[in-house]
Amino acid sequence: MPELSQDDSKQLAAAKALELVTPGMRLGLGTGTTAAHFVALLGARVAKGLDVICVPTSERTRTLAALYSIPLTTIDASPELDLTVDGADEFDPKLRLIKGGGGALLREKIVAMASKRMIVIADSSKLAAVLGKFPLPLEVNVFGFEATRRMVSAAAKGLGCDGELRLRKTPGGQAFVSDNGHYIVDCFFGTIADPDRLADRLAAIPGVVEHGLFIGIAKAVISAGPAGIKILGQLD
Ligand code: A5P
Repeated sequence: MPELSQDDSKQLAAAKALELVTPGMRLGLGTGTTAAHFVALLGARVAKGLDVICVPTSERTRTLAALYSIPLTTIDASPELDLTVDGADEFDPKLRLIKGGGGALLREKIVAMASKRMIVIADSSKLAAVLGKFPLPLEVNVFGFEATRRMVSAAAKGLGCDGELRLRKTPGGQAFVSDNGHYIVDCFFGTIADPDRLADRLAAIPGVVEHGLFIGIAKAVISAGPAGIKILGQLD
């Protein structure tokens, strides 16, 4: 069997998640390269007559889904969803995630939590025994950004999370601005020993609009890699 590339693995996980989609479902569509595979595969099913209605988690995903003529709506028009399929930057054995590498974490969390089920699709390299190697993204209000960064630093240090808090920039060197008009700060903690407590502390800081720790949200992770497909958690 030819070796599976990382991208093949992402597509394999996406194809497995597609098996969960049934006619009439209201779906949340994630953001990122893995979620893009899911959108493409879903688009092929829609072209063959599958009836679904979808809420994208970013403008990027909205554009992509529209290219495939996938029927789209908004979270306000469809505030309860059956299933959201999204990628992750890291996941741990307790189904805790780091998300936001693509800067869409706020909409991703709103859409995931409005769904009966959130299923994560990922290549197997995203599994982490301890979260934090991937810098934790925070969506931060533009007003008071520097004050917020200091509050985040102090709160995180109290939990042993030290490291640079870097304002995300575009390739052109401008501050990256999310679909919601906020900055993204990437926290280079290295290791997050207690993600649950860190999540609580970050949520208490007023300038932090949302953090990229998804805890108690994903029902399962479908990961694919050289050893095949693995399911962590419950798909149904
Ligand atoms: C987008 O903001 C992220 O949460 C993505 O889901 C995450 O970065 C995974 O992206 P890839 O599938 O491109 O690795």
